Amino acid sequence: MDLGGLATANPVWVGSSELTMTREGLLACVDAGAGAVVAKSVNESAAARRQLDIAAYAFVGDDRRVRAPGAAKRGDGLLNRSGLAQAELDDWLDILAGAAEHGAARGCPVIGSITLGDAAAAARIGRAMSGVVPAVELNVGAPHGREARAVRRLTEADAVHDAVRTVRAAVGVPLFVKLPGQASDVVALARAARTAGADAVGLVGRYPGFLPDLDGGAVLSSWGAWGSPGCLPMSLYWVSKTRLALGPDVPLIGTNGARTAADVLRFLASGASAVEVVTALWIEGPGVLAELVAGVEAYLSGRDDFVGSALAGARDYAGIPPNPSPAWLPYLASSGRN
Ligand SMILES: Cc1cc2nc3c(=O)[nH]c(=O)nc-3n(C[C@H](O)[C@H](O)[C@H](O)COP(=O)(O)O)c2cc1C
Repeated sequence: MDLGGLATANPVWVGSSELTMTREGLLACVDAGAGAVVAKSVNESAAARRQLDIAAYAFVGDDRRVRAPGAAKRGDGLLNRSGLAQAELDDWLDILAGAAEHGAARGCPVIGSITLGDAAAAARIGRAMSGVVPAVELNVGAPHGREARAVRRLTEADAVHDAVRTVRAAVGVPLFVKLPGQASDVVALARAARTAGADAVGLVGRYPGFLPDLDGGAVLSSWGAWGSPGCLPMSLYWVSKTRLALGPDVPLIGTNGARTAADVLRFLASGASAVEVVTALWIEGPGVLAELVAGVEAYLSGRDDFVGSALAGARDYAGIPPNPSPAWLPYLASSGRN
């Protein structure tokens, strides 16, 4: 399949995280059957790199309690702090080049990633990456943006447009722009990214989060980035709205909340052409990719035009006919309050 000028093996991609921060990690994801692999983000800031020294990760069960180490389950949420890759740029480019070559031989593109700090610096890094990877992803929606000033979460269309235009001018390969989910109008951000030259738009980044530990204090002793299967419908809200507003010619890359093949399919039905998965791999390892890819391919076999198919049945409230009897009546009855 082609997505924004990039040929990929299948729609199940590995998103950027510490799992794709080393040559070994990148190769393991390629070899496990990903459609594409996004490397861990870098930027120009020493502070963003130092941030990795205080990284912490808490897997949280349905009861909002933190799991014991090693006991995480696929459906858990993840609250974490993290920073950016600590390699010097030249060393990082060497790692990317080797992984990209390995991926190319197996039909799996390895994509470079930049989390926005300063736009001019991102442009310089993007230009350098263009020489070694077949595509670059620019994340302008870092959920740690308020706590870690060295990474930014842009929530206004003008700011997205300016940053993307600056980086676009320097990047000589397809440029994908990953947006935050927490902004008043993510569709406007997607339109701004596209107008400024993004070849595809990533929707949506994880959310800022906070979780008291009822034994005292707060989980991680700080705020963090939060993602869980419960975030899936929130991600799909913006994927579907963006697909409707921008149309099928703008490729969308879904992320945030896919843990199973069925979740990947829900992203596709909402309008995404590929899905970046991360937390499921943290919990079960890259081997989970084989299950996701097989499940998605089996379901899609013989089905055309699946991307965006759920939108045919979705209407604005004004287009929905009134119920013959109140829909809330059975709920009231079962609660014993009528
Ligand atoms: C520990 C961790 C580190 C991450 N680091 C980055 C990063 O450096 N750059 C980026 O664009 N996204 C980063 N992400 C976001 C993921 O790429 C992905 O979009 C997100 O985790 C949602 O997918 P999921 O629900 O499958 O986890 C990170 C996510 C996690 C959990």
